[in-house]
Amino acid sequence: MLSKADNELLIHTGPGTPMGDLYRRFWAPVMLADELGGPDSAPVRVNVLGENLVAFRDTNGKIGLLDAYCPHRRANLFWGRNEEAGLRCVYHGWKFDVNGTCTDLPNCPEGETLKNKVKTTAYPALERGGIIWAYMGPAEKIPPFPDAEIFHAPATHRHIIKVKLRGNFAQMQEGDIDSSHVSFLHSSVGGTSLPGSRANPNTFVDKSPRWFTLDTDYGMMLSAQRNAGPDTFQWRVNQFLMPFCTLIAAQPGVPILGQLRCPIDDEHSFLFRVIASPDRPITDEERASYANGVFVPEMIPGTDRMRENMANDYLIDRDAQRNVTFTGIKSIVAQDLAISEDQRGPIADRSDELLTSSDRAIIALRKRLLTSVRKLMDGTEPPEANNPKAYRVRPGDFMLPRDVPVADGAKDILLIGAR
Ligand code: FES
Ligand SMILES: [Fe+2]
Repeated sequence: MLSKADNELLIHTGPGTPMGDLYRRFWAPVMLADELGGPDSAPVRVNVLGENLVAFRDTNGKIGLLDAYCPHRRANLFWGRNEEAGLRCVYHGWKFDVNGTCTDLPNCPEGETLKNKVKTTAYPALERGGIIWAYMGPAEKIPPFPDAEIFHAPATHRHIIKVKLRGNFAQMQEGDIDSSHVSFLHSSVGGTSLPGSRANPNTFVDKSPRWFTLDTDYGMMLSAQRNAGPDTFQWRVNQFLMPFCTLIAAQPGVPILGQLRCPIDDEHSFLFRVIASPDRPITDEERASYANGVFVPEMIPGTDRMRENMANDYLIDRDAQRNVTFTGIKSIVAQDLAISEDQRGPIADRSDELLTSSDRAIIALRKRLLTSVRKLMDGTEPPEANNPKAYRVRPGDFMLPRDVPVADGAKDILLIGAR
């Protein structure tokens, strides 16, 4: 459990909040590149971290991410004209470039000189791996972009969806690292893996893993150890990349799954579900399998909403729950959302939980985040933000002899990464 004070510290990410300040020290995933379109295409609303922004790609292909509200009389620039290397407010014609500089102020005689003094908030933004990333922290602290492989995958090597969720980013993220729930929530009746899932079958045999957590220079390595035979352990190793990304344990050779969380406000967040294969293109067969609605959920076309959602009880099928799957809910993401969108509401109250050793990774993650928040409040910057190479790690799900010491096992696990 967490004290109410610590819970408050963990969940708020709006401007000026301690966790919001921490998140803003890193490049944040804010939208899909496909949503933005080409040069001079329509501006797009971007609401993240409690801020209302508008994104556009200017005539020269540069990405702008501006405060949505025009500094003149606060009209919304979403209605603006994206033309000739800038976004023009349609209320009185003021125009801004991607840096937030006012380049035209045409509705008053003093505009020609006044425009040099007018600037609006503009955040640095760039496109990597099919995602538009923004840096929303202090200008002088802008970090290098991290080297995590899935953040750089070319189109041939990746499959990404973005889902808008009801729920605070922190409880969503806690679900990502929780290996214990996989044996239940994502299982079939009879205790095997879901039809169409790629999970290691042993995950459903030993349902009470032991946890080993390790603080690292990119975040945390969170390893769940399960019995897999008289001489063998199965290790499911999740990699948590500060401060919002979990690389989910997967067997060698399959594309990596990364779950990236971006707060919208305290009660809503985005999930960027990135499936990326660093070493090879995703095969046609793999892409075809994503259409079965289990590993990749079915989306409502043209939206960031899933067909299975809270309003329709995630299309739960009670017959299927009796006879086929543990939940009766089809996609793995919807199974997760049925839980995490309503842990007594969109913001979990962690003050009266009943945690056990199965929650050790969650306890460790909270501690890591809260420690980083407190250090930043005391003036110590998060070192991960300026250590891009540290992010070159992979998750894993594999067998090791039982007599490999834990520390060495952890080292072996790290060595399968991309360093
Ligand atoms: S409100 Fe934007 S130009 Fe007046
Ligand atoms: Fe899950």
